[in-house]
Amino acid sequence: MQLQLKLTVAAALVAACGMASAQEQVVKIGSVAPMSGGQAHYGKDNANGVLMAIADLNKQNITIGGKKIKWEADVEDDAADPKQGTAVAQKLCDMKVNGVVGHLNSGTTIPASKIYHDCGIPMVTGAATNPDLTKPGYKEIYRIIANDSALGAGMAHYAKDVLKIKTVAVIDDRTAYGQGLADIFADTAKKLGLNVVDRQYTTDKATDFLPILTAIKGKKPDAIFFGGMDPQGGPMLRQMDQLGMTGIRFMGGDGLCTVKLAELSGGAKSLANTACAEGGTSLQKMPGGVEWKKRYDAAYPNQFQVYSPYTYDATMLLADAMKRADSTDPKVYNAKLEQANYKGITSTIAFEPNHEVKNAAITISTYPGGKKTPLE
Ligand code: ALA
Repeated sequence: MQLQLKLTVAAALVAACGMASAQEQVVKIGSVAPMSGGQAHYGKDNANGVLMAIADLNKQNITIGGKKIKWEADVEDDAADPKQGTAVAQKLCDMKVNGVVGHLNSGTTIPASKIYHDCGIPMVTGAATNPDLTKPGYKEIYRIIANDSALGAGMAHYAKDVLKIKTVAVIDDRTAYGQGLADIFADTAKKLGLNVVDRQYTTDKATDFLPILTAIKGKKPDAIFFGGMDPQGGPMLRQMDQLGMTGIRFMGGDGLCTVKLAELSGGAKSLANTACAEGGTSLQKMPGGVEWKKRYDAAYPNQFQVYSPYTYDATMLLADAMKRADSTDPKVYNAKLEQANYKGITSTIAFEPNHEVKNAAITISTYPGGKKTPLE
């Protein structure tokens, strides 16, 4: 009897030790985007995508390398500023996060990519679109949306074939994104036989566009293409109204293509002339888009902008690679990330040898009645 009791206690102790050895391990995913300043609404949307994925992962009781994983996000603010972007990247390297989702702006993502490469931590962006990001061939850097070669060329074809535009003026905000996208648009437009009648510049902090719009008005273009973000695009539309330019088409890329553009344009008539191209398909056409968006809106009401489906999938993609590698060590699971074939809510994600996403789609949207609406 006594012996039996001793054995039972011993068995219980062994079981308890077994439980202790299957301890919990924290896996940290860095989320980086502008969380302050004029672009904070994009950053919040991006971070929400990561946070939603982290919450979903924690519900799945995932075990990797024999340890139960507790998933955590570390949300950082790069303020859309290249210097702050590299400082935050270094901070995430020093913290030894397991992976990074971000950054949002090409101007921060490109310099930060070298830092992640040097410290060997994978970074997946669902927002930065300048093609130069993947040119160095850093094996830790991935993009899961179409780049500006597709967006700029797509808009040039749309201008010619659908809008039947013959003359266009081009403005950019002198960032890596805005300038790069405007150059690709202008080059393709010229090749297609459009006449680029003016090229003007602004910044990603400017609010007064009357001088450049006045100069453009004098050239009487059919359309304006703007390489830049909505804090400039919105006021630009208002100022086009002020100058009586409501007969001119307005076009841009993904940075312009937000829900908030309508609010920032303050009811400008010119919003009705606006078309923008973003990477990926519309939410309606994504494999899990509609159901995902319902859950997003319930968790983060009125915060949806553009990229959160991609930051959600980017987080899930990192977790999927860790699961397949049975390791959370960046240097180990990166080999699995490279071979991803992940069925996400945006699409099935796999990479080209240069780490651009395979089969990248683009979607053009307009704003009928002030509501961003994809053209089907
Ligand atoms: N696609 C934008 C960029 O690359 C947000 O900066």
